[in-house]
Amino acid sequence: MSRFSFTIAATDGKARTGQIDTPRGEIRTPAFMPVGTAATVKAMMPENVRATGADILLGNTYHLMLRPGAERVANLGGLHKFMNWDRPILTDSGGFQVMSLADLRKMSEDGVRFKSHIDGSEHFLSPERSMEIQKLLGSDIVMCFDECPALPADRAAITKSMELSMRWAQRSRDAFGDRPGHALFGIQQGGLEEDLRGKSAEALTSIGFDGYAVGGLAVGEGQEAMFGCLDYAPDQLPQDKPRYLMGVGKPDDIVGAVQRGIDMFDCVLPSRSGRTGQAQTRFGQVNIRNARHADDPRPLDPECTCPACSNYSRAYLHHVNKAQEIIASMLLTWHNLHYYQELMQGLRDAISVGQLDQFVAAFHAKRAEGDM
Ligand code: GUN
Ligand code: ZN
Repeated sequence: MSRFSFTIAATDGKARTGQIDTPRGEIRTPAFMPVGTAATVKAMMPENVRATGADILLGNTYHLMLRPGAERVANLGGLHKFMNWDRPILTDSGGFQVMSLADLRKMSEDGVRFKSHIDGSEHFLSPERSMEIQKLLGSDIVMCFDECPALPADRAAITKSMELSMRWAQRSRDAFGDRPGHALFGIQQGGLEEDLRGKSAEALTSIGFDGYAVGGLAVGEGQEAMFGCLDYAPDQLPQDKPRYLMGVGKPDDIVGAVQRGIDMFDCVLPSRSGRTGQAQTRFGQVNIRNARHADDPRPLDPECTCPACSNYSRAYLHHVNKAQEIIASMLLTWHNLHYYQELMQGLRDAISVGQLDQFVAAFHAKRAEGDM
């Protein structure tokens, strides 16, 4: 089968629920994509990531091109086989990670030359090379090669950067070509400037993509400013294609973005914070390292059905975290990913029955109660 399609089943205000169909399986939206940067969702077996409810993972061009190398992954049968995940994978294009991680970057119209943060070796990324790498990996949803300026930045710099990203979007489209069953997403830029976001959306829409990402947010502007931008940015993008908010976010960021018309998310928070003893729960973030958990026989969340909450006490989770045992990372990551996927299911169900406002009110009330 050679299909990639997006179907909206129900809407509630600006929020939508539906599914993306791909040859590797369906993606229920709104969707959360766990981050599997280096061909692994850290501390989790792929079948366990699936058990939390994930339909799709995110991989990174930047990391995989440096180690183990895209040609090597291709020779070993592609990223899905390599990491033992046969469902959809979206890969980010590398533009954003080069800016945040690489050493000695040199930008030009053509692309970015940089030194690896791992071993200092020299590399080059361009729209054409990014498309080639994402094809070698076997990515199902390929992202355009873009530049994401750090905020705050002045309007002239944001304009120049957005315009470069739009030229790179056209080059990405040309290099991607026609690949049935594989999708190419454009990335809107323009900082917090409504007219620049509008120009970016127009440029992308006239090129034509299978989905559209809102890029350049969650880069230090704060939630209020991000929501301000999301009050108009999704509306500037096509209604009938998936909209993906890159790198977001905390549970309340996701809820607010879904209310504003976003369909897809990725964030390292549930996996990364699990490895530092932070649990994401219905009643907010809980630091399992806090001494108040040391003698607590209760589960982290009595209503959670994940293995960490079903079979272990807060006292145990506290102990293995303090002792730096590997199972501490495994259990909290599992819980956090389970919580995120349950939140997404709750959002999908609420939109389906037209009760998103009630769901969101209950979500905030629970968090206001706090962990007791
Ligand atoms: N991840 C988070 N934000 C961005 C962005 O603006 N562009 C890309 N390519 N990846 C991102
Ligand atoms: Zn749990």
